[in-house]
Amino acid sequence: MKSHSIIKFLLLVSIISFLGIASNDAMLKSENQQKKGASKSEDKGIGPVKEVKLGAIDKRLVDKGNSIYNEKCSACHNIDDVNLAPPLRGVSKRLSPVFIMNYLVNTTEMQKKDPNVISLIQQWKKVPMMKDQHLKQNDARAVLEFLRSLDK
Ligand code: HEC
Repeated sequence: MKSHSIIKFLLLVSIISFLGIASNDAMLKSENQQKKGASKSEDKGIGPVKEVKLGAIDKRLVDKGNSIYNEKCSACHNIDDVNLAPPLRGVSKRLSPVFIMNYLVNTTEMQKKDPNVISLIQQWKKVPMMKDQHLKQNDARAVLEFLRSLDK
């Protein structure tokens, strides 16, 4: 009798961990599809930023962006793997610089109105929606430079 319930228990544990792995897998898959999916680089999002001039990577800006990332983003985001939120490497290749800056300075409005952000939120239902970090435009620019440096 006793060994019977141990077996049941073990079975339950393995089912639960299998489900965990499967859902993680599904998350990674949808993320990969997103990466492969049509480039959104034309999408500028919604917000005050209309144009961003990009040059060679500016090391000082990268450092500033890196410390903003450590302070305001790293609780939810990792660079390469899934934390509570999507990894940030690759983002600068997939999203336009204007879109990224607008999402950082105008987070709440874009979460309500921008179709790409709305579908992203659908995919990340399980985790809290990205909080508005109230970044100033020059801080958002520094974060953008940091994100670009990850994709060099
Ligand atoms: C409270 C957790 C949280 C914090 C803090 C946070 N994010 Fe997010 N972020 C998310 C979640 C969840 C998503 C996906 C759904 C969404 O957009 O709300 C996301 C999405 C994003 C995206 C779009 C990613 C993609 O794959 O298209 C970018 C870019 C981003 N965050 C950058 C940042 C930056 C930069 C900071 C810091 C200034 C930051 N986030 C802070 C949770 C967070």
